[in-house]
Amino acid sequence: MKNKITIVGAGFVGATTAHWLAERELGDIVLLDIPATETMPKGKALDLMEAGPVLGYDTKVVGTTDYADAANSDVVVVTAGMARKPGMTREDLVGINQKIITDVANNIAATSPNAIVVVVTNPLDTMTFLAYKVLSAKGFPKNRVIGQAGVLDSARMRTFMAMEMGVSVENTHAFVLGGHGDEMVPLTRYSTIAGIPMTELMPKERVDAIVQRTRQGGAEIVNLLKTGSAYFAPGAAVAEMVEAILKDKKLVRPCAAYLDGEYGIKDMYFGVPVVLGRNGCEKIIEVALTDEESAMMNKSAELVRGTMSALKF
Ligand code: APR
Repeated sequence: MKNKITIVGAGFVGATTAHWLAERELGDIVLLDIPATETMPKGKALDLMEAGPVLGYDTKVVGTTDYADAANSDVVVVTAGMARKPGMTREDLVGINQKIITDVANNIAATSPNAIVVVVTNPLDTMTFLAYKVLSAKGFPKNRVIGQAGVLDSARMRTFMAMEMGVSVENTHAFVLGGHGDEMVPLTRYSTIAGIPMTELMPKERVDAIVQRTRQGGAEIVNLLKTGSAYFAPGAAVAEMVEAILKDKKLVRPCAAYLDGEYGIKDMYFGVPVVLGRNGCEKIIEVALTDEESAMMNKSAELVRGTMSALKF
């Protein structure tokens, strides 16, 4: 039987994710939005199907505002919610997006009880935690609720590393852990070019500049776009995660996972290296951190806790 992938939120990130996924022919795609958007999801879905003959994919894409069409999905990607405007932090979005994520999670639980849920809505760690709170009350285990952040942040860092060295992005590998915010934790000693740590290939000030640009990567795009936030790279990052899940690849990537003592952190979603497979977040990999790295992780966790405290139950 074909896989079924639902994307909740047919905005910029949702539609772009659908685009990257359609090309990979991983399964049927449902693009779902709120009734107020009327026929918009249908328009985007049909447009994507009409790209199929040119690009050579047979992916079926359905646009809808009715969760009945999304029933029994294997994977549900959540991009519903408001995006940042210039001057806004991801944290500013808590109030608005809490209502949306609660509604979306309840609908997913009712219609796709066996799905693996990948959350993209910001503030990421907090919204993934919230989705898990709602979904776990309906029987979802922690491995089936995952947040997308580290794949994107690492991709941004890889882009900057390749630019700096004048080499292919394919030669780069980066590991960005922690919360998806200004205090995220790019692990430079595990970030490599052709297997060589970046710290051995460039002076410290260039490493620091790349770390800083990575941390500000989302804001850099927001300030350039002026009307919203990034969507091409976030969509590509989600598509990689969905592919790893549906193909049971056991792909190691940094993702927001529910921590229950790992890395000394309890009862929150936070970016750590995980194994992605058919059961979602199948394993959390714990690596020994230096004192400096641990301090950065703790600072980042504090920031996420602060944002989580803005949730109103
Ligand atoms: N259910 C389903 N869809 C919803 C709901 C809801 N309850 N509420 C809002 N939406 C839809 C909107 O109608 C809109 O089409 O979510 C979509 C969001 O799309 P955009 O405004 O284009 O925002 P986008 O750039 O896609 O960002 C979405 O992803 O990266 C994060 O920070 C970003 O939180 C933001 C999210």
